Amino acid sequence: MSTIKDAKFIKEAVDFGTIVPVFKKVIWLDKKINKATLFCSALGYYEAYLNSQRVGKFIFAPGWTTYGKRLQYQEYDVTSMMEECNVLEIAVSNGMRFHGNPHENYESITCKESALIAGLKIEYAEGTEDFIPTDSTWECAKSNILDSSVYNGEAVDFTFNTDESFPVKELPDVNKEILIATEGEEVREMATLSAIKLITTPKGEMVIDFGQNLTGYVEWVVPQRKGAEFTISHAEILDKDGNFYTTNLRSAKAQVKVISDGNERVYKPHFSFMGFRYIKLEGFNRDEINLDNFKAIVVFSNMKRTGYFACGHDLIQQLYENIVWGQRGNFLDVPTDCPQRDERLGWTGDAQVFARTASTTYRTDKFFKKWLHDLACDQRENGAITDVCPDLLRWESHGSSAWADAIVVVTYWVYRTYGDTQVIKDQFEAMKKWILFMEANGSERGLFDKHPHHFGDWLSLDAGDEATGGLTDKNLIGTAYLAYSNSLFIEMGKVIGEDMSYFEELYALTVKKYREKYIDTGKTEHETQTSNVLALYFNLTDKPEREAEKLVKDIEACGHLKTGFVGTPYLLHTLTKIGRTDLAYKLLFRKEFPSWLFPVTKGATTMWERWDGMKKDGTFATPEMNSFNHYAYGSVGDWLYTTVAGIDSDFNEPAYKHIIFRPLPCKELGYAKSRILTENGEVISSWEYTGNGDECKFSFTIPNGSHATLYLDDEEYEFESGTYTTVFEYKGY
Ligand code: BGC
Repeated sequence: MSTIKDAKFIKEAVDFGTIVPVFKKVIWLDKKINKATLFCSALGYYEAYLNSQRVGKFIFAPGWTTYGKRLQYQEYDVTSMMEECNVLEIAVSNGMRFHGNPHENYESITCKESALIAGLKIEYAEGTEDFIPTDSTWECAKSNILDSSVYNGEAVDFTFNTDESFPVKELPDVNKEILIATEGEEVREMATLSAIKLITTPKGEMVIDFGQNLTGYVEWVVPQRKGAEFTISHAEILDKDGNFYTTNLRSAKAQVKVISDGNERVYKPHFSFMGFRYIKLEGFNRDEINLDNFKAIVVFSNMKRTGYFACGHDLIQQLYENIVWGQRGNFLDVPTDCPQRDERLGWTGDAQVFARTASTTYRTDKFFKKWLHDLACDQRENGAITDVCPDLLRWESHGSSAWADAIVVVTYWVYRTYGDTQVIKDQFEAMKKWILFMEANGSERGLFDKHPHHFGDWLSLDAGDEATGGLTDKNLIGTAYLAYSNSLFIEMGKVIGEDMSYFEELYALTVKKYREKYIDTGKTEHETQTSNVLALYFNLTDKPEREAEKLVKDIEACGHLKTGFVGTPYLLHTLTKIGRTDLAYKLLFRKEFPSWLFPVTKGATTMWERWDGMKKDGTFATPEMNSFNHYAYGSVGDWLYTTVAGIDSDFNEPAYKHIIFRPLPCKELGYAKSRILTENGEVISSWEYTGNGDECKFSFTIPNGSHATLYLDDEEYEFESGTYTTVFEYKGY
């Protein structure tokens, strides 16, 4: 039986420059068929057409993996698209394989050129079979896409002559063993948004507002003016004067240019995406702009929505929506940091801190399992997990604490949320190597304090504007994470029956060393909110009252959070843990800078990378690093689910088989409700203040096959499946 590996990688035999090639094969059928299947992959991104119809719905196929070792192929049932004479056409662009990023050494790890590999399998009614693989008998033509790149956008000329055929050549040196069946979720067009208004900016720019910062592209009707060129630029935000602002995209052009041939054409980019809320139109006459002719298409991985949260406070509700949009904007086959500037990389730290929220809101197991395979594949010989995955950066030094820990923490949340032990089995060796790497990089065993490369409490506010790494001692973070990741690793190892005694001994030693070094001496180099949060949340301190007091004092003294990527995800959880949910709510409700709601009051529709992305006076933080669609601080979402609404899954009976309800209502919210779709069915928790606000009505739904423990006002109740409603004179947290 033939497989895609029997086909050849092919590319155009003559240089097309930047023009996207279209590979072509004509196939005549002279017998009745039962089934036709197209297998397809590419070095780069491909788009396949059979008899002028798009094959499948996968945008940016074959997906993004560690291409040097793993390249996905897709399988499409095309039976219903087959005719007597069939024209198969497949366009291939550079994709993320080579993308104009400054880190160009990435090129060398696959092959320099983009290429196609495909095969059409035809099963005839009579029982025989044909396989038509890509090889030198295929032809190729220039497409009208004169240039296309992920970061820069696309240039299309509808007047361009695409009729001429060119020969193709085979690339025998590309290793076909890297081909694997698709593991991840397909990136698809998931929603369409209408344009809401046309603005003329103070500078006189014609700008359309879609009302939502998003990731995707615009589908638009090209005005029928032969030879005229139309340009659309993309931006996330307008500056304080109301002008179009693109400086934060850095070198990414994020622009589409289309030349009309005078015919009616609807255009959308094929191989590029942008992070944007606004588009600027150039080349259009004012009377050629009809808002109905512009639609924003939202693209992301086709995950099932599973988590919902609603409450009676508009700004918190908007914050929640922004968190969800942060995931939509950055779960494009790989969990990326941002979708707009010349970066868009699978930063491990960002994914790690957001994994819990993300896995509640959408069903992420397929998505993350694929990425975790790549992460393990990219892992260095010495056990270091790379800072980004797929590893485009190829830095000498990898393995930053809290970034590299993604291998453990993401695996943990996938298991706890969906209960599939396979993810633990798949990642066990990689997790173990990472723990051993930390163990090996300490001044003494039990400390992870000798590795020169740590990002620290990224973008925290305690070290001033310019110092991205924050004030918290990076070696303290290192050792804290050694303990934390190892503790999760031990729990997971036991689930699959591994002997974890070596790691238990290492864990005990790490906690001991941490205490000696950072607790008993009573000093760390810098006492910060994050250092106290880690000590408390990771159970590292034997003097929790002392750490708790210091944390509370610091917050009360300044009135706000100062934490960055490392401390923020645990800040509110920690306050709840030490019995100060009142203070957690205070931080959540705070509207002034710095806070979660400050961006919301500035009109944010996504999560910002920095607390001060836009300053109080409307000016922006440095354009060198200022994304308005970065999900890391959206990790507060899991506090909304687990503490405000109060739904969690017990690790020991994962996938919400044993539900933990621990809602901590707050009058200012009025009501809160969360629904989580689990394998067993819907889990619901809701509460609402009634009457004059002294009573709170609680309601819980537990699906068949699950049971629950409810913690309310210091009492504990056990429930089997069903729906329960109780009215309490709620004492409060
Ligand atoms: C990314 C971050 C990432 C960081 C590493 C930035 O450029 O956007 O989100 O985690 O680098 O420190």
